Amino acid sequence: METLVVQTPSRQYPIYFGTGILENKEYFEQHIPGDKVLVVTNDVVGPLYLQRLKHTLESSNKLVFSLEVPNGEIHKNLTTLSQIYDKCMEARLDRKSTLVALGGGVIGDLAGFAAATFVRGVPFIQVPTTLLAVVDSAVGGKTGVNHPKGKNMIGAFYQPQAVVVDINTLHTLDDRQLAAGLAEVIKYGLIRDVAFLEWCEANIERLMKRDPEALRYAMYQSCKNKSDVVSADERESGIRAILNLGHTFGHAIEAGTGFSTWLHGEAVAAGMVMASEMSYRMGWLTKEDVGRVESILSRASLPIRPPPTMTLEKFMTFMSIDKKVESGKLKLVLLRGIGNAIVTGDFPMDVLQETILYFQKLVLSHPEQYEVPLASQSL
Ligand code: NAD
Ligand code: GLY
Repeated sequence: METLVVQTPSRQYPIYFGTGILENKEYFEQHIPGDKVLVVTNDVVGPLYLQRLKHTLESSNKLVFSLEVPNGEIHKNLTTLSQIYDKCMEARLDRKSTLVALGGGVIGDLAGFAAATFVRGVPFIQVPTTLLAVVDSAVGGKTGVNHPKGKNMIGAFYQPQAVVVDINTLHTLDDRQLAAGLAEVIKYGLIRDVAFLEWCEANIERLMKRDPEALRYAMYQSCKNKSDVVSADERESGIRAILNLGHTFGHAIEAGTGFSTWLHGEAVAAGMVMASEMSYRMGWLTKEDVGRVESILSRASLPIRPPPTMTLEKFMTFMSIDKKVESGKLKLVLLRGIGNAIVTGDFPMDVLQETILYFQKLVLSHPEQYEVPLASQSL
């Protein structure tokens, strides 16, 4: 078992990494102040892990309620959020009650936002069960839901009391979801940790085969990078935005495809290639650097091109409602060299548009190549 402490101005909390710790009450008990707990999960993760977690919490003499919401990004919305509030009311939760998010990033963001807002804030614990949630969404306190016109547009910064990572839960994750998590792992190397990127390049096949030691190291190192950035800038007034490398392009792909075809990590992977190509066009990366980004992502079985349906117009529409737009000006995360991300609004619009058109031309020359692998997930 390993612990990493996240230190933010609003709260200090541990991330516990271990095998089988879902069944160990000691990691939960000390972070639950009251007698009632509501576990929020979905109809895929619930059947796998809910009973185990309920049993653990009940063995600490807690009154445990649970709610299984429908699975999928498409349900990360105000309707599902309302179902969580309904359950909180029905169970007569109070300010000392704790919400536990058992699932991937969708559940963590939804339950976290419910915790931030129900009776103006109750304690919550993140139990991430996807690689992406472990290395990114469960850490740092961003919570929220989507609006039909934009991703994560409604939300709050709200840190958990603890993050409990039971590495065993990753065994049931399918390969496509594992790869989506690897996109965020690789991101830390690209934005600020070249030594870690080199380690990823040397170990990507081990990660894809779920070598436990490689996964453990990748998770710890990713969370360490995220924790360092969040500690420096909890509410994203500056440096934290580098964690969004590829996300402005990626969110446009997710929204432009109706949040129903591409996984978040896949969209981020294609987005990181687009951000790299644009950085090259700004004179900040070499063509070899762009090839290096494409190579590691391809080796992780991730898409490196946007879908053919994403026209320039679609990109510009969805990018214009990104949260990094300030007073009408779009900001992007670009690379001034591998391992050195910057957030800037200081780029000619032409370069952005040329970058998008470059990819559009590329994918339209072989549309079948870029459509086939992205079969719709079951939502
Ligand atoms: P997800 O929550 O939809 O989970 C992916 C799929 O895996 C789902 O079908 C889920 O039911 C299933 N699943 C989860 N755990 C499983 C397990 N152990 N075994 C088998 N199946 C399992 O998606 P995700 O990739 O975890 O998260 C993506 C979401 O996270 C997006 O909504 C994104 O916006 C958000 N996000 C938030 C932050 C943040 O800082 N808050 C950061 C990154 C991403
Ligand atoms: N996933 C980006 C952030 O937490 O800031």
